[in-house]
Amino acid sequence: MNNQDKLKKLVDLRAEAKLGGGEKRIAKQHSQGKMTARERIDILLDEGSFEELDMFVTHRCTNFGMEKTKFLGDGVVTGHGTIDGRVVYVYATDFTVFGGSLSETLAQKICKVMDMAMNVGAPVIGINDSGGARIQEGVGSLAGYSEIFQRNIMASGVIPQITAIFGPCAGGAVYSPALTDFIMMTEENSYMFLTGPKVVKTVTGEDISVADLGGADVHASKSGVSQFKVENEEEGLLLIRKLMSYLPQNNLEEAPLEETNDPIERVEDSLNSIIPDNANKPYDMMEVIHSVADNGEFLEVHRNYAKNIIVGFCRMGGQSVGVVANQPSFLAGVLDCDASRKAARFVRFCDAFNIPILTLVDVPGFLPGSGQEYAGVITHGAKLLFAYGEATVPKVTVTLRKSYGGAHIVMSCKQLRGDFNYAWPTAEIAVMGAEGAIEVIEGRNIAALEGEEAQLKYAEEKINEYEEKFSNPYNAASFGYIDDVIEPRNTRFRVIRAFETLQTKKQSNPLKKHSNIPL
Ligand code: HXC
Repeated sequence: MNNQDKLKKLVDLRAEAKLGGGEKRIAKQHSQGKMTARERIDILLDEGSFEELDMFVTHRCTNFGMEKTKFLGDGVVTGHGTIDGRVVYVYATDFTVFGGSLSETLAQKICKVMDMAMNVGAPVIGINDSGGARIQEGVGSLAGYSEIFQRNIMASGVIPQITAIFGPCAGGAVYSPALTDFIMMTEENSYMFLTGPKVVKTVTGEDISVADLGGADVHASKSGVSQFKVENEEEGLLLIRKLMSYLPQNNLEEAPLEETNDPIERVEDSLNSIIPDNANKPYDMMEVIHSVADNGEFLEVHRNYAKNIIVGFCRMGGQSVGVVANQPSFLAGVLDCDASRKAARFVRFCDAFNIPILTLVDVPGFLPGSGQEYAGVITHGAKLLFAYGEATVPKVTVTLRKSYGGAHIVMSCKQLRGDFNYAWPTAEIAVMGAEGAIEVIEGRNIAALEGEEAQLKYAEEKINEYEEKFSNPYNAASFGYIDDVIEPRNTRFRVIRAFETLQTKKQSNPLKKHSNIPL
């Protein structure tokens, strides 16, 4: 073979590899509304930036006549490229090759890019569309999964890890995504479950469809397994690019600063009247977030899950900020098991990756009742408490209205090392709401009065007295637990100024093997 032939061979092999499992299977993939692995990577990365690795890897299995069927690349496309000029490592399983199922060699390819990403401190983005373990390979495949899981664990908190599920993801295969920071699913075509409908039917008798068991809706709203639900793959890939813009490359770096033309000192008059006079009336916390964020932009995470709390990313003065905010317009913004878990996970992510946290508080307390207690609200609430108390990133808290009892403490209070704790004049920072409090401390005196009118009058007087004394920000401010009471319309620049001041903040926790967060 002369050199020209050698060159031609390379070109031919590359062309063969790029066809994956062949044109027929690619056509089937397209007919199901799915893209191929390479088409997905093309949308995800900056144009022309993708450098593919291990294109010539093939499986080594000889069971069931497998030696006769080999495809270059063996069911996964791996490599690196850039998103907005920043390096990321990617892998995308190729469903056209053995259903993207995981062989030993396929796992090695994924592990290689994960190792490379760790070496250079770059994020890893995985795109999953796979029939799970390569059945013909038996335990080799299980070992391959385990190798990936171990790397997911070691990379956790070091480099951001994002997973898109654009097809099936079943059995133990779900655990790699579950170990990453963010999971995205498409409305159609993607599902995740440990055991499929057939096994469920056999074991429990439950008749359930694939979508009802593990579709995007289920995981975005019921289980909370996935943080993002998108309509289609393109929307998902573009969303990952956007998400990346808020994140640093690794735990030793800061998220990129983005110049903003939105004036830092912008005053938002509408905030002065957003809190209704009636304390039991809701308003939309999202309006507050949009008002204070650069250009009103906010990337919500976990939008459909535990809507009583909002988490997501915005920029303030160009700096990436993680926002945690109670949502009074959903279940009055109460804290429950799901909301606590959702927020705790987000706070820990921000802390791991040096993203300052803005907490907007309007919380009536924890949801009472046996349902919550049996579900372990004590442990789940403690997760959020722990996450805030452990976090060393800059933390700015603004209390807008209610901040009662345990929920006050949990929502990034001063004693949990809050750096700047501001309150609006409408804030009510107390052990509990006025009516409940008076029932407890004056119940006996009220009952002793004769006649309903007298009882109501006395109760009202005491409620007023309590409100006067406690349902305001000044009592907490008199102790220094609130650093300043601010005009709502000034919130944006007060918060930005606080974060600017905190840029040089250095805080560390005692040396330990690791903490024991109440899981
Ligand atoms: C080998 C597989 C495969 C697998 C699919 N294929 N899954 N090959 N191992 N796990 C192959 C098929 O033989 C077929 O090959 C091609 O991929 C496309 O599959 P189809 O069935 O034609 O596609 P579709 O109708 O879209 O159905 C997709 C599917 C189904 C629902 C994913 O393929 C399926 O049920 N696969 C098996 C899923 C499974 O049970 N996996 C093991 C889970 S246990 P040809 O040559 O015809 O194109 C597990 C344990 C992990 O994963 C533990 C980790 C710790």
